[in-house]
Amino acid sequence: MVLMLSKKDAETVLTMKESIVAVEEAFRELASGTALMPTRVALSVSDKKGWMGAMPAYLSRAGALAAKIVTAYENNPSKHKLPTVMALIVLNDPETGKTEAVLEGTHITAMRTGAASGVATKYLARQDSRVVGVFGAGTQARTQLEAIKQVRNVQSALIYDIIPERAKRFSEEMDRKLGIVVHAEASPARIAGMCDIIATASTSRTPVFDGGTLKKGVHVNAVGSYAPDTRELDDLTIVRSKLVVDSRQAALQEAGDIIIPLKAGMIAQDHIYAELGEIVAGLKPARENDDEVTVFKSVGLGIQDAAVANLAYKKAREKGIGQEIEFL
Ligand SMILES: NC(=O)c1ccc[n+]([C@@H]2O[C@H](COP(=O)([O-])OP(=O)(O)OC[C@H]3O[C@@H](n4cnc5c(N)ncnc54)[C@H](O)[C@@H]3O)[C@@H](O)[C@H]2O)c1
Repeated sequence: MVLMLSKKDAETVLTMKESIVAVEEAFRELASGTALMPTRVALSVSDKKGWMGAMPAYLSRAGALAAKIVTAYENNPSKHKLPTVMALIVLNDPETGKTEAVLEGTHITAMRTGAASGVATKYLARQDSRVVGVFGAGTQARTQLEAIKQVRNVQSALIYDIIPERAKRFSEEMDRKLGIVVHAEASPARIAGMCDIIATASTSRTPVFDGGTLKKGVHVNAVGSYAPDTRELDDLTIVRSKLVVDSRQAALQEAGDIIIPLKAGMIAQDHIYAELGEIVAGLKPARENDDEVTVFKSVGLGIQDAAVANLAYKKAREKGIGQEIEFL
């Protein structure tokens, strides 16, 4: 029997707290050599302004073998009332390869992306961080703020979106959900200058704030851009930062935030200080003083999906959630 889990099922069983633990372990496995993960295969559906990626991964300690098919169509929300990013995950039994579960992966993707930033924030942000700034008021932004709140004593948040109505909706919803004050802010510069932690989770192709306006000691999680020619962070933010990535190889292939300043000669490859897994595994020190500007740039890894899909599957089995179907 194969367990089918819908988006709603994933929403029912997953918590951010447990997702952060699972994703932290996945990054530890990656750095310790017990995870296997090729760089994702992707193609641009350029005539439709879309993108598709295929992401297999194996976590031998967690016992999770999974593959995700993910699409990103940035005009979906305005044109089709569909999410920008949607996904499907297949979870297999590592012993036999047999399919154990098929999971709708849209919520899992948002949770694992938030969770990776939660792990990065736990290790890299100042302990006394209280104010969070968020750029882009979409799906990923919500789990970014939720994850940051999970690992720091956040008191308030500021949200900016080029579509003010989206920022307003975000502030009302997240204020209620997280029990903190969330304000819609019209000035990107004010967010950059005021916040202790910043999350960029937009579909912007160009920098969303000026790196010269950042506070000393700020931590930035940048999740939005995933193509070599698009970026949310400007040269100055990257040059000023202690730069951590989810994967060096993936970042050098996909992260315009890093590739663009690299090509312009503003930084060299060794400006990438560490992979998140190296910090989690204790191979590299995390934040070393209160003045450092730290940046975590993620493009998203299959190990995160494997970890959170496995968590959702186990919890759904425990709670008797989902639909079993005779598949083979
Ligand atoms: N790093 C990862 O692991 C990962 C995972 C999932 C998605 N993503 C990427 O994250 C981005 C956001 O995804 P989403 O699902 O939240 O999309 P979404 O469409 O739900 O939200 C994106 C928001 O960004 C806003 N925006 C666009 N330009 C902006 C700007 N200059 N300043 C502020 N806001 C701006 C849009 O109006 C929209 O509200 C996408 O590019 C997606 O591909 C990355």
